[in-house]
Amino acid sequence: MSRSQNRVAVLHGVNFDVLERRDPEIYGGMSLSELEYRIAGWAREVGIEPTFYQTNSEAEFCGYLHRLSGSADAAIINAGAWTHYSYAIGDALAVDPVPAIEVHLSDVENREDWRRVSVFNGLVEARVCGKGPDGYREALGLIATRLGTAGG
Ligand code: DQA
Repeated sequence: MSRSQNRVAVLHGVNFDVLERRDPEIYGGMSLSELEYRIAGWAREVGIEPTFYQTNSEAEFCGYLHRLSGSADAAIINAGAWTHYSYAIGDALAVDPVPAIEVHLSDVENREDWRRVSVFNGLVEARVCGKGPDGYREALGLIATRLGTAGG
């Protein structure tokens, strides 16, 4: 029998290593570790096994995406500013794709115009933004339904 499909890669891009030092009005003041701790709890509730990855290196992020299906059944991706201009990262996600949800803590639709653009358009199944950490919970719910993990 094949193993259950419940591995979800939660990927953060550039500047998330200093999340707690970014504008608290926009990003809430939490650290990436705190955010990941919350995500891990929500993941357990819906039968998902998360793995976390963050880098400030675009090349490393692309490399991770090139091998995504080997380590994950689905992905939650918050690539930070790369979202808006890195065609390289968009192309990399298309190399070895798994079902993916794009998440942003802030409401990128209602900030600067350049933040409305996403290189993941057409490559992700949904985009959740402007809901702070709860956006990851929503994304996990969507993935749990997609992978059929929630019912055990
Ligand atoms: C972000 C939104 C991006 O526009 C920004 O560059 C980030 C964080 C978010 O989670 O709201 O780094 O992805």
